[in-house]
Amino acid sequence: MSAEVDYRSSLAEVAEWREQLEAQGQKLVLTNGVFDLLHAGHVRYLKEARALGDALVVAINSDESVTELKGPGRPVYTEQDRAEILCALEAVDRVVVFGEKRATATIEAIQPHIYTKGGDYTADSLIDEERELMERLGTEIRILSLVAGRSTSATLSRQAMSDDSTASGNKPRIALLGSGTGSNSRAIIEAVQSGQIDAEIALVASDVADCGVLTYAKEQGLPAIHIEPGTEKRGRLTDAACKEYTDKLKAARVDLICLCGFMRIVRGPILSTFEGRILNIHPSLLPLFPGVDAWQQAVDAGATETGCTVHYVDSGIDTGEIIRQSKVPIHPDDTVAAVKARINDAELVMYPEVVAELVAKL
Ligand code: GRF
Repeated sequence: MSAEVDYRSSLAEVAEWREQLEAQGQKLVLTNGVFDLLHAGHVRYLKEARALGDALVVAINSDESVTELKGPGRPVYTEQDRAEILCALEAVDRVVVFGEKRATATIEAIQPHIYTKGGDYTADSLIDEERELMERLGTEIRILSLVAGRSTSATLSRQAMSDDSTASGNKPRIALLGSGTGSNSRAIIEAVQSGQIDAEIALVASDVADCGVLTYAKEQGLPAIHIEPGTEKRGRLTDAACKEYTDKLKAARVDLICLCGFMRIVRGPILSTFEGRILNIHPSLLPLFPGVDAWQQAVDAGATETGCTVHYVDSGIDTGEIIRQSKVPIHPDDTVAAVKARINDAELVMYPEVVAELVAKL
């Protein structure tokens, strides 16, 4: 058996190597992450990152910081093992370990030519300190897209589900359907995690492959799927897509469906199978301002008050039975964005409360 080798490089070694690369006109790419329990998504991401320059350094979170970030039970593999596995990949040249929550100090020490992040990152997700630092260093920032459907948390969750399918078997099962940022779906997921909603998230589904709704759900290790809406015009689902949504929701044995910014009309077998068990949140005091851009409609109408509504979904657009409403003021000097944000704050409180109450009655 070969002797144990430590594959972790020190920051000083990597910084020196960076100088050598630069002298040869070569570019060093840096990325960072946990890289626990490697999957194909990691491998593809690292290949893509490596192709941006001539050498790739991966900064991995120390074991302690992974536990802090991901909770007890993580990492699955120690930092030494993670370093060894990563170094065995063709795309990876060196691995360094960092103990802080953010990689700022590592970036500063290495001064990479290119810094890349993947997953749900956008340039805006980088904190100001990091962005300013990289501007000062002349480091190019590249955001690489997420490899859909592959994440360590999701893998672990699938494993846990197959190990113990009865662990939470008796709780009501909720599905979340959304198309966008995902603040409402996140609020419901957090309420389930905190115990405010005594239920289980059985499925998160979206018509948009790379939306915040799916990204967050995957990070949380929840079953999260993209279901193609089909070729119908915007806002519609084809018959085949309706069938697929219905099949997936049935297979997940859902008791309640919460629409969280789902930008498709729910109709056909989805509605007939689950009618009375589908909720929606709408950003106005219905029946006022149904449809899109409800906050803009309220401002344009000169309203002094608006809000949000949780209602059952029927075959109309935002016409189903109203369950609860929450009001917010519109001030004379408000921008539309301010009104939208105020409504959203109210939504994030009201929607989980309503779901918690309905679930308790199931
Ligand atoms: C919310 O304003 C909701 O009322 C509407 O769509 C928006 C979704 O936002 N139906 P998010 O994706 O949950 O952040």
